[in-house]
Amino acid sequence: MITVSQVSKRFPGGTVALDQIDLTVARGEFVSLLGPSGCGKSTLLRLLAGLDTATSGIVQVGGLAPVEACRRGAIGVAFQRPALVPSRTALENVRLTLEIVRRPGSFTPAELLRQFGLEAFGHHYPHQLSGGMQQRVNIACALVHRPEILLLDEPFGALDEITRESLTGWLRGVISATGQTVVLVTHSVEEAVTLSHRIVLMRPDPGRIHSVSEVPAAARIGDWTAPAVVAEVTHLRRRLHGVVPAGAAA
Ligand SMILES: Nc1ncnc2c1ncn2[C@@H]1O[C@H](COP(=O)(O)OP(=O)(O)O)[C@@H](O)[C@H]1O
Ligand SMILES: [Mg+2]
Repeated sequence: MITVSQVSKRFPGGTVALDQIDLTVARGEFVSLLGPSGCGKSTLLRLLAGLDTATSGIVQVGGLAPVEACRRGAIGVAFQRPALVPSRTALENVRLTLEIVRRPGSFTPAELLRQFGLEAFGHHYPHQLSGGMQQRVNIACALVHRPEILLLDEPFGALDEITRESLTGWLRGVISATGQTVVLVTHSVEEAVTLSHRIVLMRPDPGRIHSVSEVPAAARIGDWTAPAVVAEVTHLRRRLHGVVPAGAAA
């Protein structure tokens, strides 16, 4: 579904945000890009969304250039700050996506908000909603036209921990129901382990893929004591905090 091949991104000024990245994501797969600030996660996501172009290498989404895939409505994107129109209600915001891209099989906006637990809030304006609700509306806007791929950049990063945890569980339910292909940017080991099939750990200066790991199935059913899950979390934490130098065995 997604192919990234030998992709580098150098910004004017010389920062190499991505250095020779190779990555494939299969249909229906949930992949997290995990890593410290500045390692190129958002840059990679923006390339997948067609919001920026690589300096070299090839990015394809469903066999198309990302810009073209976007034009066909194959991609939905949500960022950390909800991009809602303040003068439109929650329902009108979700409808706005369909005014821009209408596709066969799109969700009904009111039905989607109901599934998102926002049935009673469709006629509320963004400022009348909590941060967690705004983010659910934001994700509804990204999903309503049923894109094949959902790209999420730290969607819960600005929320408090309790809201974040409950939204993580909620997102897992939504995604397993829609069978979406998802790429999630996060710097939270818990979020990555709870949601993903695979975790791509990145490191900065220049932005590179450090390692790719399969998440034990037990993690997605919430069994945090399973030995395989404990080992994976420990491994990721060590890597993330630089305890194990790049290239060394875990
Ligand atoms: N538009 C830009 N112009 C110049 N440098 C940028 C730009 N966007 C990101 N960078 C730099 O590229 C690197 C990777 O940034 P980013 O992809 O935002 O990292 P992350 O999302 O992992 O925190 C950082 O060093 C950042 O400062
Ligand atoms: Mg970022």
